[in-house]
Amino acid sequence: MTLGSKTSFSALPNDALVGMFDSGLGGLTVLGRLLHLRPGQPCIYVADTARVPYGGRSEAEIRSIAAEVASYLKMQSCQALLMACNTTNALALDVAQEHAGAPVVGLIDSVAKRLRGRRIGVLATPATAKSGAYGKALRAANGNIKVLEVGCPFFVPAVELNDLGSPQLRAAAKSYLQPLLAADVEAIVLGCTHYPLLKALLRELIPTHIELVDPALAAVDVLSELLAAPTLNSKQASAFSGCRLLVTGDPKAFAVGVERWLGFSPKVEHVSLQQPG
Ligand code: DGL
Repeated sequence: MTLGSKTSFSALPNDALVGMFDSGLGGLTVLGRLLHLRPGQPCIYVADTARVPYGGRSEAEIRSIAAEVASYLKMQSCQALLMACNTTNALALDVAQEHAGAPVVGLIDSVAKRLRGRRIGVLATPATAKSGAYGKALRAANGNIKVLEVGCPFFVPAVELNDLGSPQLRAAAKSYLQPLLAADVEAIVLGCTHYPLLKALLRELIPTHIELVDPALAAVDVLSELLAAPTLNSKQASAFSGCRLLVTGDPKAFAVGVERWLGFSPKVEHVSLQQPG
């Protein structure tokens, strides 16, 4: 069941455990949004840094990763899965749904229902752009729409290395934006959860009338509709009190990124997901 689109679902308790995963730092933009709206929400975030980036991998690899991580989150008793990675959302939403054993809230469907306009640009990983998933979802929600999807292979590795504006990155960004600006788009969807971390650079390179759209906002709203309203007590919880962070690569390096982007010093646990052999 996809919950970017509205499907009837009995409400989950307000303290339902929410599972999330991404290849690395990007999904923190979704986690940050969730915990801003619902401080203290119990959640498990898996950063699969041992396999970052996902966006240059084959469809088969991406689908197998989605199966592994969604199954792991099911074993942890997650009661909902909030997609924090567009690449697995684009190529393996059905796989995540099959393995999560819980409602799955997608980024792509969620934002497609909300976006209006006639010419929309999408910046995404090469795998997401090639899949055409944004174009399909946006056209399904709003038939009369032109969608241009551009793959941006330099962005995720740069963000993971905390390069947010080197001359090389700036040149790459200009070349990715060029066809969107030439098509006079009204909005640009940040179709990879790492890209909101490059918002300052992108904003500098585009005219002010073009909106930059972060799908996390729509997806977190869709998830919130599934969860019972926060209680008075839960509203006063500290944002990260219910959050577990797991990483397949180096926990220390990831903790530095979390501190940088979310402003708290987390405990990060190492987890091994890949089946032996
Ligand atoms: N942040 C993820 C996404 O939204 C994955 C990026 C990657 O690892 O290539 O697509």
